[in-house]
Amino acid sequence: MAFVDGPVRVRVPATSANLGPGFDALGLALGLHDELTAAVVSDGLRIEVAGEGSGQVALDESHLVIGCMRRTFTLLGTQPAGLALTCENRIPHSRGLGSSAAAIVAGVLLARALVVDGAARLPDADVLALASEIEGHPDNVAPCLLGGLTVAWIAGAAKAIRRDVDPAVTPVALVPSFTASTELARGLLPESVPHRDAAFTAGRAALLVAALTGTPEALFDATQDRLHQPYREPAMPASVRLVEQLRSVGLPAVVSGAGPTVLVLARDADEIARARAIAPQGWTARELPVDCRGATLLAT
Ligand SMILES: Nc1ncnc2c1ncn2[C@@H]1O[C@H](COP(=O)(O)OP(=O)(O)O)[C@@H](O)[C@H]1O
Ligand SMILES: [Mg+2]
Repeated sequence: MAFVDGPVRVRVPATSANLGPGFDALGLALGLHDELTAAVVSDGLRIEVAGEGSGQVALDESHLVIGCMRRTFTLLGTQPAGLALTCENRIPHSRGLGSSAAAIVAGVLLARALVVDGAARLPDADVLALASEIEGHPDNVAPCLLGGLTVAWIAGAAKAIRRDVDPAVTPVALVPSFTASTELARGLLPESVPHRDAAFTAGRAALLVAALTGTPEALFDATQDRLHQPYREPAMPASVRLVEQLRSVGLPAVVSGAGPTVLVLARDADEIARARAIAPQGWTARELPVDCRGATLLAT
């Protein structure tokens, strides 16, 4: 199996999953990106990390991107003699902005691009399935790969549909300095919920797809959730309180993924300014336009 000459480079967006009622299904790609470069070398493993996660993530075979590259190479029937990887990270880790999905998608795409006929042997649909399997769920992986708004589901393998987002919608992420564990947040969900809450949330999830793709005036009602956010309050009381505060003044706010970041789906400059003004001390308000493209290979 032949490898390409020279390095390959990929750009992967941050993502926000759930968006309120779209639990484990809806996701939005955001204009905040990691850029990674990888090359096949004669031996060893060289990893350089700048930005988010620098000094924290392991610089050996247990590095998430490397693990995903190895798994993809094995699937393609080859392993390079040596690997060099450079990560320029801008997506903060463990904040509910999809850093793990971005790392996984980047690893799979870099390895595929390093193998001469990789793209033919691992088509995009298989990349989605593989990356979702590694992450454990497709709700961040799908928008990271495809951009825009995605509806993801699992039927055997992970699948997803992409839609453009109404241009009036500008996501504003309110990002705290502290982190939250996705695993802990998942552990707080009950085995069963009242039928009326399930029915309510299913209706709101359907409304949310319509609202985000052409009826943004319905976004406040469309972001109401009764399936996960109320149950997760003990894991992130400040985030749930902030969502309530933003919603009490009419802003469509949700917990981003498993938190603790809060996302406001602002519809005009006034809503962006009001969301910024409500950000508590120690939280950073970041206007992150929707990323329409998803993961892209860059020229090196
Ligand atoms: N770019 C990266 N390089 C290496 N490891 C990463 C990267 N991004 C995320 N990770 C790993 O994933 C963990 C965060 O994943 P997770 O808890 O799912 O939070 P998030 O909401 O940011 O995806 C980090 O602590 C780190 O171990
Ligand atoms: Mg994650």
